Amino acid sequence: MLERISPARRLHGSLRLPGDKSISHRYAMLAAIAEGASRIRNYSTGADCASTLGAVAALGVPVEHDGGDVIVRGRGISGLAAPAATLDAGNSGSTIRMLSGILAAQPFASRIDGDESLRRRPMERIMRPLAAMGASISARDGRFPPLEISPAKLQAIDYTLPVASAQVKTCVLFAGLFAEGVTTVREPLRTRDHTEIALREFGAQVEARPGAISVHGCPKLKGRELTVPGDLSSAAFFIAAALLVPDSLLSIEGVGLNPTRSALLDFLVSAGADIRVRDLEFRAGEGAGNLEVRHSRLRGGVIEKGLTAALIDEIPVLAVLGAASEEGLTVKDASELRVKETDRIATLAENFRRMGVAIEVLPDGFHVPGRQRFQPAELDSFGDHRIAMAFAVAALASPGESVIHNAEAAAVSFPEFFRILAEIRQ
Ligand code: S3P
Repeated sequence: MLERISPARRLHGSLRLPGDKSISHRYAMLAAIAEGASRIRNYSTGADCASTLGAVAALGVPVEHDGGDVIVRGRGISGLAAPAATLDAGNSGSTIRMLSGILAAQPFASRIDGDESLRRRPMERIMRPLAAMGASISARDGRFPPLEISPAKLQAIDYTLPVASAQVKTCVLFAGLFAEGVTTVREPLRTRDHTEIALREFGAQVEARPGAISVHGCPKLKGRELTVPGDLSSAAFFIAAALLVPDSLLSIEGVGLNPTRSALLDFLVSAGADIRVRDLEFRAGEGAGNLEVRHSRLRGGVIEKGLTAALIDEIPVLAVLGAASEEGLTVKDASELRVKETDRIATLAENFRRMGVAIEVLPDGFHVPGRQRFQPAELDSFGDHRIAMAFAVAALASPGESVIHNAEAAAVSFPEFFRILAEIRQ
């Protein structure tokens, strides 16, 4: 699919976004192994979270849709059934990595695979800790999907993550639910803590100390009614667009503002963004509030170390803002970008090149000089949802029409993106 994006005069309006992708995955997986029905309101509409529901259903857990709600009729911690066919994680790294923690502990074999992009993403990061817990998993070339998972009984583990990854943390903590005793994951850098919060909500015993999270095995999880806050990582594209396009004013309602995610707002505000947060409230451990975003001139800045981990999904759109900022943007310690849905350093650089924007590529990051102009161009998502949306934002600020090839990739996390963009732009 091809999207044509013409320059925007301004963005104006008020919007509400579908549920957070990270939280939706976790609620669906925990609901599947909880006892009784869970109702999940504002479940993510993205294809990734549909992959998780598809996999859960294939494991014998009834899943129903009721308007924007998803009802998962959990089968209890030992209630999953052997899937009749290969489980399909689609494009979703979260589905394959987190669900594998559950699959590895089952008394039945399973196989989980994904699309061409997922088949290039590294899985040894979950295979290693799961093997140490007693799991038996084989992968193509020892590290790529499909994963073949044999039946196993797992033991608790104390595991230090070699890379900052909430997906790996989640995988190990989920596996720990099926092991006797206490499983601990230590993280060198803080990653999003939705798993810790969700585990508690479903009734698991969790202890979270700075740098270490422990879960007690063999809990009785109970189905819940929960509401997923709007996805801040989806909001990021509209926040960036409003900051970039002169005269813009957007209000975005009900956005997830978990402190392990909202570093995005702190970073932008410290760079000069006019973003106001209103009506922040916490429900089921997750914060949500309303944002008001006005066009602002940004200074730019440096993203490195822990900040890189906290902003990892927003870096493509921050790079776009960086090119238009006063001083440019430097991103370091970001080699993880190379193993996302695409090598995001390479796909960013290629689209910038097409728009006549300079970028210096580094092995683990990049530097985009500031005060640059975006030229209209033929752009490509390269099959990556965040690249599609980041460059739609860049295209709004260029003086002529741009084209984005393979724009349908946006549907992986945000199928409504181009429709909402058309509604708020003038
Ligand atoms: C996610 C964690 C991050 C992030 C991804 C979602 C999660 O991945 O990039 O979009 O929901 O836990 P890593 O765990 O690979 O850093």
